[in-house]
Amino acid sequence: MSDMVIAGTTCQGLAREVADEINAELGQLTVKKFPDGELYIRIETDVRGKECAVIQSTSMPQGRNLIELFLLIDTLKELGAKRIKTVVPFFSYSRQDKSFNPGEAVTSRTIAKHIEINSDEFYSINLHKDSILDFFNIPAKNLDASPILGEYFKTYELESPVVVGPDRGAINMAESVAEVLGGTADYLEKKRQGPGKVEMKPKKLSVKNRDVILVDDIIDSGGTMLVASEMLKSQGAFNVMVGCIHPVLTTNIVTKLFAAGAADVVATNTIPSQISFITVSSLIADAIRG
Ligand code: R5P
Repeated sequence: MSDMVIAGTTCQGLAREVADEINAELGQLTVKKFPDGELYIRIETDVRGKECAVIQSTSMPQGRNLIELFLLIDTLKELGAKRIKTVVPFFSYSRQDKSFNPGEAVTSRTIAKHIEINSDEFYSINLHKDSILDFFNIPAKNLDASPILGEYFKTYELESPVVVGPDRGAINMAESVAEVLGGTADYLEKKRQGPGKVEMKPKKLSVKNRDVILVDDIIDSGGTMLVASEMLKSQGAFNVMVGCIHPVLTTNIVTKLFAAGAADVVATNTIPSQISFITVSSLIADAIRG
C-alpha cells in the first residue's frame, strides 16, 4: 500500500486517478524551469516515514522527463520517505538493451541503474523488451495493459473480430486483446510480390468482411500502423480500428490513419495524448497496492 502518490509532469491526471483508487494522498510539488531550461523541483507535502509511489513516464522530451524523475525520487529519499515505488508507465531508451556493436552504450541499463539508486520497487507497462527488468537489482515488474485495450474495443459491436499485430513481435499482445474480445489473433507477414513489391498479409487468417483490431505496443512515427492498416483495408477488412499502449506520436499520424479509413485510433494514458482515452490507473493501483 502507498500512503502517497506523487506525479511527475507527464502523469498528473493518471496519478490523481491512482491516488483515488488506492485511497492515498496526492503529493503536492512545484516543478518549474530556470530561464536556461534547468529544472527546479520542490516537494511540498511532508513525506517523512511515508510509502510513496512516484509516477512519471520518460516520454518526450526524454532528457527533461528523466531528469525530473531522478530529482523526484532523490528528493523523496532525502526528505525521509520510508519506501519509494517508482512507476514509469512508458520507459523510453528501451531500444538499446545491449551493445550490438563494441563501444555502444546500453542505455536501458544506465537508466535502470539511476532509477534503482533511490527506489525500492520499479514498475513499468508493456516494456519494449522484458529483458530490461534484468537490469534492476530491486523488485521490478512489467505490467500488461493489453487486456485493458481489449476491454475498450468490447464497447463496439464487432463483426467476427480478428486482432492483428503488424509484425510477429506483436502477436502476444494481439492474442491477449483477442482473448478479452472473444476473437482470434494473427500477425502480418511480409510477402514479396515481385521486384520491389512487398505485401503484408495476415499469416493464417483472412480479414475479408471482418472487423480488424490492429494493435501494437508503440505508435511512434506511425509508419508501421499506416502501412498495416492500408494493407488490411485492401484485403477486404470491414472496419480497421487501431490501438496501442504507448502513443509516442512523433508525426501527424492520427490524421493519416483516419484519412486511410481507420474507424478508431486509440491508446492508453501511459503518455498523455489526443488519443489517450484508456486509463491504466487500475493496473497501476492493483500493482502498487500489494
Ligand atoms: C517496434 O518494434 C515497435 O513494436 C513498434 O512497431 C514501432 O516502434 C513502431 O514504430 P513506428 O510507429 O515509427 O512505425
